[in-house]
Amino acid sequence: MVAPMNNALHRQPVALDKAYRLMNHGPTVLVSAAHSGQRNIMAAAWAMPLDFAPPKVAVVLDKSTWTRALLEGAGTFALQVPTRAQLDLTEALGNSSGREILEKSGHDKFAAYGLETFAGVATDAPLLEGCAAWLECRLLPEAHIQERYDLFLGEVIAAQADARVFANGRWNFSGHDELRTLHHVAGGHFIVDGDAVDARALPPKSL
Ligand SMILES: Cc1cc2nc3c(=O)[nH]c(=O)nc-3n(C[C@H](O)[C@H](O)[C@H](O)COP(=O)(O)O)c2cc1C
Repeated sequence: MVAPMNNALHRQPVALDKAYRLMNHGPTVLVSAAHSGQRNIMAAAWAMPLDFAPPKVAVVLDKSTWTRALLEGAGTFALQVPTRAQLDLTEALGNSSGREILEKSGHDKFAAYGLETFAGVATDAPLLEGCAAWLECRLLPEAHIQERYDLFLGEVIAAQADARVFANGRWNFSGHDELRTLHHVAGGHFIVDGDAVDARALPPKSL
């Protein structure tokens, strides 16, 4: 599979009041964070928008993950929405430990997988090239739910998307199959986004 040409030319800022739409269709995301000269990235299927304005997100981060430790240290993180072209990579980033890779090879996950990143506008979290959207977040510390449910909340403070597939507040993947976003089911099995459809008003018959 050929990775799509996805570079700065296609990246456009997304207005914060529209940022929830980048995740409202329920895609699997990649969570990245950087702290004290170290950086990491992992897959997360359990992520969702939480509010419109200011936009907030929720994501489950298991205690075993290194990304969680970096995110807690940094107080910031990024969620990025990977694409069909990044399917194998998404699975790999969710089945490998950044801590272990670093111990064994001296490289972080980005170097180990040869990943290109770019700098965000509001956080130090590394942003992965080739994704369909990026949400930079400030951690909203909630010690109880973090400890008890592994649930982390964040306020989105900057958002960008690939304008080929997200424009005017809408996803439209037609003509860009490789940029379709992913929904994890289990065990390396995913559903890829299909066509955009618009609902029509349906008044109740009894009125
Ligand atoms: C598709 C996919 C989705 C995942 N979703 C989550 C999730 O929502 N929360 C979580 O804690 N781990 C999830 N995982 C597992 C982590 O990505 C995995 O533990 C990863 O190795 C952590 O990496 P790290 O230790 O380098 O941070 C998922 C894995 C895959 C493959």
